[in-house]
Amino acid sequence: MAGGVIVSATAGKDYPGNLTLHVFITCVIAATGGLIFGYDLGISGGVISMDDFLKKFFPAVYRKQSLVHQSVNQYCAFDSQILTLFTSSLYLAALVSSIFASYITRKLGRRVSMVAGGVLFAVGAILNGFAQNLAMLIIGRLLLGFGVGSANQSVPIYLSEVAPHRYRGGLNMMFQLSITIGILVADLLNYFFAKIDGWGWRLSLGIALVPALIIIIGSFFLPETPNSLIERDHHEKAKEKLIELRGVPNVDEEFNDLITASEAAKLVKNSWRNIIKRQYRPHLVMAICIPMFQQLTGMNVIVLCSCFVQNHWLQKPSFPHVCFNYRIIYWTTNSYVNEQLVVALAIGLKFGVNGNPGDLPTWYAVIVVILICIFVAGYAWSWGPLGWLVPSEIFPLEIRSAAQSITVSVNMIFTFIIAQVFTAMLCHMKFGLFLFFAFFIMVMGLFIYYLLPETKGVPIEEMITVWKNHPYWRKYYDDLPSPKQVELA
Ligand code: BGC
Repeated sequence: MAGGVIVSATAGKDYPGNLTLHVFITCVIAATGGLIFGYDLGISGGVISMDDFLKKFFPAVYRKQSLVHQSVNQYCAFDSQILTLFTSSLYLAALVSSIFASYITRKLGRRVSMVAGGVLFAVGAILNGFAQNLAMLIIGRLLLGFGVGSANQSVPIYLSEVAPHRYRGGLNMMFQLSITIGILVADLLNYFFAKIDGWGWRLSLGIALVPALIIIIGSFFLPETPNSLIERDHHEKAKEKLIELRGVPNVDEEFNDLITASEAAKLVKNSWRNIIKRQYRPHLVMAICIPMFQQLTGMNVIVLCSCFVQNHWLQKPSFPHVCFNYRIIYWTTNSYVNEQLVVALAIGLKFGVNGNPGDLPTWYAVIVVILICIFVAGYAWSWGPLGWLVPSEIFPLEIRSAAQSITVSVNMIFTFIIAQVFTAMLCHMKFGLFLFFAFFIMVMGLFIYYLLPETKGVPIEEMITVWKNHPYWRKYYDDLPSPKQVELA
């Protein structure tokens, strides 16, 4: 959670179930779906700073950049809309495919969507690796985007459904961990491939096939989630899977609750139309605001900037948030507002408002890099994993697939906007760009503190209780009986 309002941590049921090796391995394999997203995030920024790549596909940009590098204004050195459009086109494709993926995950199951994501990404990687012209490059890029959209729509839901509720947070955050590993590997590979004259970029783009194969092959070993099997009327199989996943024979209570949730879900014919109903208002608000705020941390400015300036080793995978409840998000938010402020100050002091060039002393660069590392570490235990975990666990079954698509779409829209405009913003707002993100980090801290109830330890199909008991959101359920009334009745 987040908030000052811990209303529900004990409101849910406590189903029997262990963190078995089986469920752990299942989640590790499923989480590798994050590798394709991470790999692409890491690779594209680096590739577009390789001269051979620019000369082949964007010669005009290459010529312009050679001149701009000598510009007196350092803030404007990276401002090229065509190039950023190449990077960010993927996010638009991901947005579109996440909407289709919502139907697939609902009708055919979560795994099919994961495999589809891997296959689309694999074809995109091959096209990009062998690209002879701009058309091949762009078509490949769109396919990569379709792959990312499908995987990001299905993997977080899969993880939240498969995990025993007490371990859901820790297991789900492996998705963010693999995104981060993907970025790290891509950055390291870019660093080496940039030294290969002429065709290093082909290796950077083509090796995207590897994470795609990992998720495709891995998915064949994954069980379908019990929730999805029940949703598609395979009750017996669902019970077998639930017993296997929980590692205990007595799963009746959880199984019956899954059936009840599924029956309620079946009454909802069109989840896209239903999500705008009053009783789903908190879900809709979270589906939109959480991914929007995740992007407004400014994390992707750091991811993309770091590629531009060749600081390829800044991404750090991190595990620690498993030990805390989500309240940490608020604490961390404050600490990394400060980080953005200090980065702004450090950059502002050096380049001033005119972006004066001049040599950056090594000690100064090291301080900026350390500050950025602290920022990245703060993100990696708060808005990074929780930006995917919280949406995947709060939506009731009847709107889950559609709501997750909204989350992915909003994430991609904001990733697109930020990727597209940050170089221009940097050029015009100068170090104020970092103050801009610092402001939003403060706003999102308050949002989480007051509006997001604690979900830790609450079984996924029991999540409705957290909204019904929340001081603000409960008014949306006033006309429905409260859990206490139901208990007393
Ligand atoms: C975000 C990405 C970001 C990445 C960085 C993910 O959770 O959705 O936009 O680049 O974290 O680690």
